[in-house]
Amino acid sequence: MTAKQPVFELENVSYSYPTGTKALESVNMKIYKGERVAILGPNGGGKTTLLEILDGLIPASHGSVKARGMILNDATINSNEMYGFRRKVGFVFQDPDIELFSPTVYDDVAFGPLHLGIPEEEVNIHVERALNLLGIEEIKNKHPYNLSGGEKRKAAIAAVLSIDPEIILLDEPTADLDPSSRAELIEIINRLNHNGKAIITATHDVNAVPELADRVYVLNKKIIAEGTSQKIFSDFELLKENNLEVPEVFKLFEVLQCFGYNCEDLPLSIDEAIEHLTRAVEVNGGHIHLHIHKHTHEEIGKLRSKYEHH
Ligand SMILES: Nc1ncnc2c1ncn2[C@@H]1O[C@H](COP(=O)(O)OP(=O)(O)OP(=O)(O)O)[C@@H](O)[C@H]1O
Ligand SMILES: [Mg+2]
Repeated sequence: MTAKQPVFELENVSYSYPTGTKALESVNMKIYKGERVAILGPNGGGKTTLLEILDGLIPASHGSVKARGMILNDATINSNEMYGFRRKVGFVFQDPDIELFSPTVYDDVAFGPLHLGIPEEEVNIHVERALNLLGIEEIKNKHPYNLSGGEKRKAAIAAVLSIDPEIILLDEPTADLDPSSRAELIEIINRLNHNGKAIITATHDVNAVPELADRVYVLNKKIIAEGTSQKIFSDFELLKENNLEVPEVFKLFEVLQCFGYNCEDLPLSIDEAIEHLTRAVEVNGGHIHLHIHKHTHEEIGKLRSKYEHH
């Protein structure tokens, strides 16, 4: 078996903005080829800053950043060495307007392939493939300025996918999307991962995390915790201290627990919930027994106050 190949290795990375704001402190992180990783953290926790460092847009103030074997620092990120890197790493910005500046969506999606040296006769194939993947062929001739928020986000994602990167950095990709577009996007991202791409998603959308990542880093300036979604979402205190919560599906099963539903690891997504319930029904001879016992109301009360916002 071949050893896992790291695509990003960060050691003691800190970053301070020129204004003096310290956005990252001693971040250690290793991300491997083909992985699905979420960077979960509150507003201002440093997620965007971290992705900008991974993308070589800004150099770390301290510490070492290695990306696909190349050291990213002040000197290298502005050198020709970045040329190969740019074809392999795609960054979908939190603000889609940054990526959309051409007269049409088509031109914006073609921008990457054209500027990264993909032969002109092949560019159209890349653009059409990306538009098709996002289901936005019908808006390709529109001016990006005239798109809705969700359409802009899809166009910005298509503009990154058109270069067919092997690593995709996504900054709050589910923001602005309606439920059906959100579900579609999660499916697209997972399909890309299935085809071998590493997916690194920065988000505070706790409901999306279990569906988008196998491993989670909780970031609040420092790396607060690292592990599977199951591990991270089982630590309520840690989440609360960092202005985060558990997915809604998890909460629903906590309610069921108050009514006597018996299980150890609570599900975090609809798929996990289906699996869970199926197993529970099978084990219990075709039924799930819920009941109101002596402490049910008391437990529900505790649950309510646990999730109360102050
Ligand atoms: N260009 C900048 N100049 C100065 N300070 C900045 C700049 N960009 C971000 N910051 C500060 O750095 C910290 C981290 O910001 P960052 O945008 O990385 O957080 P985030 O986790 O992406 O937040 P959000 O969830 O709101 O997108 C914040 O305190 C922010 O105010
Ligand atoms: Mg951000």
